[in-house]
Amino acid sequence: MSSSSANIIVLLSLGIAGIVLMTRKLKRAVKQDLGAFVQRFEILPPPPPPPPKAPHPLTGLTFAVADVFDIDGYITGFGNPDWARTHEPASRTSPVVSILIENGATCVGKTVIDDMASSIIGENKHFGAPTNPAAPDRVPGGCSSGSAAAVAGGLVDFSLGMDTIGGVRIPGGFCGIFGFRPSHAAVSNIGVLPVSPSLDAPGWFAKDVSILRRVGHVVLQLPHCEPRKPRQVIIADDCFQLSKIPATRLTQVVVKSMEKIFGRQVLNHLNLGDYLRSKAASLKEIQNGELNGDQRISLLAQLANAMLALNNREFKHNHEEWISSGNVSVDPYVLALARDSSEATNEHMAYCHSARNETHTALNSLLKDDGILVLPTVLGPPPKLNGKEILSADYQTKTLCLSAIASMSGCCQVTIPLGVHEKLPVSVSFIARQGRDHFLLDTVHAIYPSLQEQADIAMKSNISNGSISKEESAETAKEKGNIAYKEKQWQKAINLYTEAIKLNDKNATYYSNRAAAYLELGGYLQAEADCNEAISIDKKNVKSYLRRGTAREMLGYYKEAVEDFRYALVLEPTNKTANVAINRIKKFVQ
Ligand SMILES: *[C@@H]1O[C@H](CO)[C@@H](O)[C@H](O)[C@H]1NC(C)=O
Ligand SMILES: *[C@@H]1O[C@H](CO)[C@@H](O)[C@H](O)[C@H]1NC(C)=O
Ligand SMILES: *[C@@H]1O[C@H](CO)[C@@H](O)[C@H](O)[C@H]1NC(C)=O
Ligand SMILES: *[C@@H]1O[C@H](CO)[C@@H](O)[C@H](O)[C@H]1NC(C)=O
Ligand SMILES: *[C@@H]1O[C@H](CO)[C@@H](O)[C@H](O)[C@H]1NC(C)=O
Ligand SMILES: *[C@@H]1O[C@H](CO)[C@@H](O)[C@H](O)[C@H]1NC(C)=O
Repeated sequence: MSSSSANIIVLLSLGIAGIVLMTRKLKRAVKQDLGAFVQRFEILPPPPPPPPKAPHPLTGLTFAVADVFDIDGYITGFGNPDWARTHEPASRTSPVVSILIENGATCVGKTVIDDMASSIIGENKHFGAPTNPAAPDRVPGGCSSGSAAAVAGGLVDFSLGMDTIGGVRIPGGFCGIFGFRPSHAAVSNIGVLPVSPSLDAPGWFAKDVSILRRVGHVVLQLPHCEPRKPRQVIIADDCFQLSKIPATRLTQVVVKSMEKIFGRQVLNHLNLGDYLRSKAASLKEIQNGELNGDQRISLLAQLANAMLALNNREFKHNHEEWISSGNVSVDPYVLALARDSSEATNEHMAYCHSARNETHTALNSLLKDDGILVLPTVLGPPPKLNGKEILSADYQTKTLCLSAIASMSGCCQVTIPLGVHEKLPVSVSFIARQGRDHFLLDTVHAIYPSLQEQADIAMKSNISNGSISKEESAETAKEKGNIAYKEKQWQKAINLYTEAIKLNDKNATYYSNRAAAYLELGGYLQAEADCNEAISIDKKNVKSYLRRGTAREMLGYYKEAVEDFRYALVLEPTNKTANVAINRIKKFVQ
């Protein structure tokens, strides 16, 4: 076994060396198009009907397609030169592409996609990263990187991409454009290379909200109903806690616009993790039963992990044979992905399937026909090219926590650009239940002008009072948090401390105070994590040792709890709280 894996590595590095030589040339040739295209060509629509008949709905628009959609006579390359080398040209055009052309749009080329459509980053080793026109030193996001770049750079009016675990929504957010992931099975995936079919959704990008909606009218295989107003707009507070962008630039922009357009009564707040925990028995089960030690992850992270397990299993089923045919070079993460799924037991896969079913049911009953869930698309601004941030497990898990919600429930989701914050693109996402794609597109279309207006106000108000520093704003948020805490409004206090942390993540007090609020809500893992942060900033923070001790005591880590209380006593020898606690726990330790 070791010798065969050594062979693979040798073949792999030989392969990569060859490709580097080959793509040097290619890169230079395509870079003037932002490096977004694999191939350019032109497929013209049929002539428009003579007046007075209306022209086709997409007349005059150009589009590009990610290199996973079949086009008759062209090889579908899957982001990998060896795939292209080992496959014949397609003998038909995928229906979603044909219908766009029949409706008047001109197809102008195929765009770069991550290697085998299997990443959220957008740095394809073989083709290079397409340039992100909104932030040239940042990643464009994947997997549909070229399609996003082409739209953001104005090279086409819209483009098609593939969204399995976020492949349209994430690059949409990073490149500052709309990205639409339709409901699962609402757009045909015939003639589209499968990544993980039970999660795959062919989606599209646009800069203009009316083009986004027009494309939806053409490609969605759903009955179109009368536009209606949302009855409920639910802000997922816990998801926004993952975001590094201040609330003034995200939630407040959405809240103000919704109030203006649809009225204050539509707005609601929800902790999505808690909601799912109350509705999804399988997620609850694993939360209470199997989680310990290294597995201490939140419920949304469990959902993300279940999504990855399904993704890996299906990807492997479809592509393992080709990948292990030995004469092909794939990115190491594609290899890892295929290898990873072999470890998932059938029992675990059954759990993943029921987690998906239950998430689907839970979101359907939450959103019904006319509800919108609001959440961040991504954690913050697009990460730096070739940087470490986006490669870290923490970054990827948190990002996938956000994208798993629609992928696992089958819901539709749209990435909505909200201008820039500190010169980098910012976005928010709306989700509607599976099958309500037209409703979602209509809602975005109705509210977008107001969102833009509010985003502009938020951006401008910032410039005019630049004198208020982040640190001062953080202190204000913390003060408000303390008031909420005194009033026993624990969740509100948590949200405000989170706001303070976003503005200034170098102050131990903010983490320690949030830990106190988590303790009140029984969020012992979060409390412990916050105390860890506080202590790493300030090694002498007595309160953080006391709070971490309490959290650990509740979690049953008695030995560690006693250590925390002892250390608090070292720092403050007369502290009765610590003394009492040590005496209380001691008996469990021996
Ligand atoms: C491996 O690929 C090369 C082209 O890169 C080809 O010439 C050769 O025949 C292939 N070998 C096998 C065993 O498929
Ligand atoms: C998921 O739900 C469908 C019906 O909605 C059911 O047929 C199927 O057995 C469920 N699968 C699991 C793993 O619970
Ligand atoms: C910032 O300035 C705007 C208008 O210039 C004003 O409406 C807003 O209240 C100011 N914000 C703060 C926090 O002072
Ligand atoms: C204003 O800009 C600063 C940094 O330039 C940022 O930290 C702050 O969050 C912004 N405030 C708003 C209201 O967007
Ligand atoms: C940290 O927070 C505390 C309490 O709010 C405050 O007194 C202190 O000035 C802050 N320190 C910094 C460096 O911002
Ligand atoms: C123990 O120390 C904490 C943190 O300094 C303080 O808030 C608390 O009042 C002290 N308790 C006692 C009983 O001394």
